[in-house]
Amino acid sequence: MAGRVSGKVALITGGGSGIGRATAIVFGREGAKVVVADYNRAGGEETVRVIKNAGGEASFIEANVAVAKQVETMVAKTIETYGRLDCAFNNAGIEGEMGGNLAECSEENWGRIIAINLTGVFLCMKYEIPQMLKHGGGSIVNTASAAGLIGLPGGTAYVASKHGVAGLTKSAALEYAKSGIRINAVCPGFIRTAMVERVIDGGSISEDAMVAAEPIGRIGKPEEIANVVLFLCSDDASFVTGLPMPVDGGYVAQ
Ligand code: NAI
Repeated sequence: MAGRVSGKVALITGGGSGIGRATAIVFGREGAKVVVADYNRAGGEETVRVIKNAGGEASFIEANVAVAKQVETMVAKTIETYGRLDCAFNNAGIEGEMGGNLAECSEENWGRIIAINLTGVFLCMKYEIPQMLKHGGGSIVNTASAAGLIGLPGGTAYVASKHGVAGLTKSAALEYAKSGIRINAVCPGFIRTAMVERVIDGGSISEDAMVAAEPIGRIGKPEEIANVVLFLCSDDASFVTGLPMPVDGGYVAQ
């Protein structure tokens, strides 16, 4: 299958739902061999089924990105299955408990959000980078958020984790720029996924308020993030590294 990432091996965490699933499907369509990783087996296997039904190549690996041993095994299994690693989309994340101010944020909520959203991205890069170095480079995209660039009352832990992802991305990009590994982040605005549905249902922010916060006048679609991840991983972005890139309908431009 010819495509923009033809023949490349792409590892996508959080590939069982939302932005990760949409990205896995786009990569499959564009010719990549896709490893869908998630701690939700049913969701991940469904993504693989969709890719294969469309004629693409994919396999599922169950892994919790907050657990170092599982991340190490996830990367090792990717190499075992497809022989190399060219692209990684470190995207698994949670919203945690939204709504209260900092003093109401439990240590448990803080710890869980930081472990998955921030330590998870660190661990993924820690094990992906040595594999990419073995064959002269690759491209990594991390999922930060518009909330990785500006504050968001009621989401202190989430905002801190996503600012951390933006910082990790910039610093790692500088460390590996001369080694052929480009490292960028996407910073989505509100995107219609299970996560956003949960936030709306939780009552901390209404759908109308999300739409009103988006200068473009609507909530985004997962495919609109997937297309940017594809661009960042493709050779079209060969001079782009260290960029936490808003893909947010103008949210952070305000
Ligand atoms: P989602 O809830 O639809 O999908 C997240 C996926 O990640 C799920 O399949 C879940 O099982 C998986 N996951 C969660 N924790 C995991 C872990 N520890 N190990 C392995 N897999 C894990 O959410 P969505 O919206 O697709 O979110 C994807 C990323 O985009 C997250 O990092 C999120 O913070 C970020 N984001 C989402 C926005 C939105 O409006 N939907 C806005 C900005 C950022």
